[in-house]
Amino acid sequence: MTVAVGSQERARVFPSGFVWGAATAAYQVEGAATADGRGRSIWDTFSHTPGKVADGHTGDIACDHYYRYADDVRLMAELGLGVYRFSVSWPRVQPGGSGPVNPRGLDFYDRLVDELLEYQINPYVTLYHWDLPQNLEDRGGWPARDTAYKFADYAAAVHARLGDRVGTWTTLNEPWVAAFLGYGTGVHAPGRTSAADAFQAGHHLLLAHGLATQALRAAGAPEIALTLNLAPVMTPGQVADPAAEPAPGDRDAEAVARVDALLNRQFLDPALRGAYPDEVLAIAERNGGLGHIHDGDLAAIHQPVELLGINYYNPCLVTAGPGDQPNAAFPGTSDLCFPEAGGARTAMGWPIVPGGLARLLVRLSRDYPEVGLMVTENGAAFDDHVESERVRDTGRTDYLDGHLRAAHDAIEAGADLRGYLVWSLLDNFEWAEGYHRRFGIVHVDFATQRRLPKDSALWFSDVIRQNGVQAR
Ligand code: FCB
Repeated sequence: MTVAVGSQERARVFPSGFVWGAATAAYQVEGAATADGRGRSIWDTFSHTPGKVADGHTGDIACDHYYRYADDVRLMAELGLGVYRFSVSWPRVQPGGSGPVNPRGLDFYDRLVDELLEYQINPYVTLYHWDLPQNLEDRGGWPARDTAYKFADYAAAVHARLGDRVGTWTTLNEPWVAAFLGYGTGVHAPGRTSAADAFQAGHHLLLAHGLATQALRAAGAPEIALTLNLAPVMTPGQVADPAAEPAPGDRDAEAVARVDALLNRQFLDPALRGAYPDEVLAIAERNGGLGHIHDGDLAAIHQPVELLGINYYNPCLVTAGPGDQPNAAFPGTSDLCFPEAGGARTAMGWPIVPGGLARLLVRLSRDYPEVGLMVTENGAAFDDHVESERVRDTGRTDYLDGHLRAAHDAIEAGADLRGYLVWSLLDNFEWAEGYHRRFGIVHVDFATQRRLPKDSALWFSDVIRQNGVQAR
């Protein structure tokens, strides 16, 4: 699809009205962990539990965005961002996870939204980016059905305060990660390790999405989204040419379909088609049963949404057996292998495969044509060094440039892609990796909280101005 002239890549101009922006999440940037009546979340508990996060890092202070938001918004304006995607901390709004709201917690988002609008930056609110109130975890967490109903109440409370100025509402960020890393592998909060809990958490997150979507719609929200971590599932042989299809009868085809069902379709199909893939039901049935899926749930989950948010970092590689170690992120796959990709990697060890994004976007518009697409996260961690007031992060610029070209390829091939948000605006608390992994286009010195736009930020600013990438 890419027309390369020698080693030269042509310029790419995106459709007019294409949305450009950057994303963060509450626990990763806000800090102010006990300010103004904020309650505790599962990430406070987890990060303060020895051995859970690298070097005992916590989000207590993070980027101090709670206090520095006005400076950060000015920086966004200087870079020319059209959208800032941030998440609301549920325990700031409802310290105990239910009941009366804490007005001082909502005041923060009120100020942030006003500041963004002052600079004509469109606020995109994500209601859940993994910081479940600890009190709800103590009552069973996401494996408990009631959490979904509590979430819908919380969504309505946030909308009641911000809905007059915020048009784009994302219910959940990456429910697969919240369920399967939070309750399956235990690498994320709350750190449980049960496949049954993970499937139940996944279902109740979907139910939470459906109920919250109904509440937001009833309150008049014009644009509602669900953001998923989606990855093209492929064999190692496809990495060199992600657009290629596996040969018919390929012995890996069933492995690819099964992992695609667990990672992607487990969330896409209930939300956008009102049904679970058969593979997921079969595996869930062997891991705790299906008693948590009640009559009417799939209808409640299957709500029309305007946007599907896609967080893409790398493809997921799989082959038919002989099996590896069981992979707790993917129950029911102990007969399969999850090989490592060769080639270039980021500091996370994640393979760099821009063509995977094109493959994913084209497939999504083909299989789910009723929903618009937005890349709500894409970016990379590298070991950046500040040299005389400058961060020369060529690796990150190359990563972003390659993925934007792939996104453009996908649009040319028919994908209904409407925008691209880089992860992340700022270096921040990267979950179990703490502050060691820097994803920001803006460098943060965590000792002084000084912000310094990296070369990639200046490059991205040009991309936004030109609505595209230049020939190179
Ligand atoms: C995504 C998360 C985001 C960030 C990036 C690197 O899975 O949504 O918070 O950690 O990965």
